[in-house]
Amino acid sequence: MQTEIEKLKNRLRSARSLVILTGAGVSAESGVPTFRGADGLWRSHNPQELATPGAFEADPFLVWEWYDWRRSIISKIQPNPAHYAIAELEKRYLEFTLITQNVDGLHAVAGSKKVIELHGSIWTVRCVECGNSSENRDVPIKILPRCPCGGLLRPAVVWFGEPLPEEALFRAFEASSNAAVMLVVGTSGVVQPAASLALRARDAGAFVAEINPEATPLSSIVDLRLPCKAGELMPTLL
Ligand code: OAD
Repeated sequence: MQTEIEKLKNRLRSARSLVILTGAGVSAESGVPTFRGADGLWRSHNPQELATPGAFEADPFLVWEWYDWRRSIISKIQPNPAHYAIAELEKRYLEFTLITQNVDGLHAVAGSKKVIELHGSIWTVRCVECGNSSENRDVPIKILPRCPCGGLLRPAVVWFGEPLPEEALFRAFEASSNAAVMLVVGTSGVVQPAASLALRARDAGAFVAEINPEATPLSSIVDLRLPCKAGELMPTLL
């Protein structure tokens, strides 16, 4: 393992640009439940009942209760050493992009500045009538929250069946195409188009390393696989 870590450190030392793609696993050691896996959120909740536009239309109260519960968990926890190491890595590269699928906002709390939130943020709400977005950190949130225009507010996160924010996706593909090194940290690599960013980076010539205790569909395409916990491995890269 030490040889592999050294190999990655050498790549990082000489890289002119670094892209880091993160998923729920990077927040796992902070206490945020992941989606898949033994204790994953999708084991006890049906995505179709909670994370789709149709589910919100059918029962906005239920969907908001679930998001309120997640917001209350996230509001009480802190970034872990992986978030802090990623924020530190950002300072060392002129060309750096952090692409996250996480909606918890923990990267920003740890000090990351250049974050593309591919799936939105659990701390942003959007009006289903007028489309206005605003920050909302109320815990608990008043269910059902309303926009000044009277419309119902929803979490500004990407649900199943919805497209990703166009500009965020464009910038993520641009960064991945220009990466010298990409670190894929704590994602199961099954949700598209996020997972395809790793393929894009590899095809464009980047050295791609995966940090995840479990193998994923991306494991066979990466240049280096480090079967480690993000909070333990990431600080050793500094
Ligand atoms: P998943 O829950 O699918 O995958 C979490 C990954 O993190 C798994 O591969 C775990 O093995 C890994 N993992 C667990 N603990 C870890 C640790 N300490 N260090 C490193 N890795 C660890 O989460 P995502 O891949 O982020 O989308 O899921 C992608 C999207 O699916 C989410 O953004 C969400 C969900 O549906 C939306 O809500 C739109």
